[in-house]
Parts: sequence; structure tokens; C-alpha cells
Amino acid sequence: SDAPVIAPSMLKCDFGNLHREVELLDATQAPVLHWDVMDGHFVPNLSYGAMLIERVRPLTDAFFDAHLMISNPEQYVDDYIKAGCDSITVHIEALPEPQGLLDHLNQAGVLPGLAVSPQTPLEKIEPYLDSCGLVLVMSVEPGFGGQSFIKTSPEKIRQLKSMISADTILSVDGGIDTSTIGEAAQAGANYFVVGSAIFSQSDYSNAVSELARIARD
Ligand code: DX5
Ligand code: ZN
Repeated sequence: SDAPVIAPSMLKCDFGNLHREVELLDATQAPVLHWDVMDGHFVPNLSYGAMLIERVRPLTDAFFDAHLMISNPEQYVDDYIKAGCDSITVHIEALPEPQGLLDHLNQAGVLPGLAVSPQTPLEKIEPYLDSCGLVLVMSVEPGFGGQSFIKTSPEKIRQLKSMISADTILSVDGGIDTSTIGEAAQAGANYFVVGSAIFSQSDYSNAVSELARIARD
């Protein structure tokens, strides 16, 4: 299968030096920036919105993967398209009928993604899988970085893998580090969102290549 993708999560990064952080991330082999958008309503935390992503867009050629942990995402999705996101993932819990939004993203040339939180059964996203370019399994409760990987996640990943087509990206997000990425990969994930396990390290390139190596094994 294709090489595993490590997607640094822009939540635990140093926002006081964001340009520098982006340069350091560009120097790693991670071709993606995962933007954790939180509205303080869908999740009990507030991060940033489309304006910040728009400001960073011209600084890097990285693939911008927006993870919208927000209520009423259909009201805001065009802001993220305009900001230059390459993929936009919404939570099924925030939009139980996402077909229209997924089609809208497809028509806009943006990779449509659906995220499922730990308590949500896969049946909720099953009807929409053919319209997704990416499906995201949350392996922590959405809202914060630095949480522990939920142990039942590999089973959920395995089941989801059997439900999607081979070219659909299976992303896992939350608590991914050198001790959990291996089992997530074995279960079928090929795209790994990583926050603390990168930003807690002094050498981001080293952290990314180590994680990619374990995911490949
Ligand atoms: C949590 C976010 C995750 C999180 C990952 O709601 O969706 O992307 O920031 O951070 P770590 O890797 O520290 O769990
Ligand atoms: Zn995320």
C-alpha cells in the first residue's frame, strides 16, 4: 500500500512563532498540515478559524487538511474552501445529513471528509462513505491534544477499512505516537494525525520519520 502519511496537527504547535513552525514542518517529510478548528460549542475548546488558515496558506505548499470540530459546518464550509483548504472534514455528529455538503465539497474540488467520534457507531457514516475522499476515526474525544489513544480504536479502524474503497483515505486522529501508530496502521489506517508526539519533540523531522517508519513496518 502507499506510504503512510503523517499529518501534523496544528493545535499544540507554537502559535507565537507560527511562520517558523510551518518552515520546520515543511522540512519534515510530512506533506500535510492538519488544522484543528474548534468553535467552543461542538467541543469545549476554542482554537482558530478560516482567517488564520488563510494567512498561512501562502507560506507553504503543504496539503491543508481542515478538521472542523464545529456546529453547523454547512454555514462555514465556504470560508474554508476560500482559505485554500485541500480537504475539509466535518463531524457526522454535527451534520447527520452530510450528503449535500460532501457533494458541495466535491464540486469545489476539495477532498470531502467525514469524522466519527469515539462514541458514534460506524453505521452513522455508512450511507455516505462513497461520497468521502477521507474518513477520520477519532481515537480520542475531540477537543484537546495530548489525550490517550482509546484502546478500542484499532477495532473500529479495522471495521471501517472493510467498508470503504481502497482509494479512500483512512485517517486516525488522537493519541498517535510511537507506541500506538503501529497498531493503528495494522488495523488499516494510512493517514495519521499527530500533535503532541511531534510538537513535544525538539526535532520535528526526526519525530515524523520515526513515526512514518513504525507505520510502514
Ligand atoms: C483533537 C484533535 C486532534 C488532536 C491530536 O480534537 O482533533 O487532532 O489535536 O493531538 P494529539 O496527537 O496530541 O492527540
Ligand atoms: Zn484533528
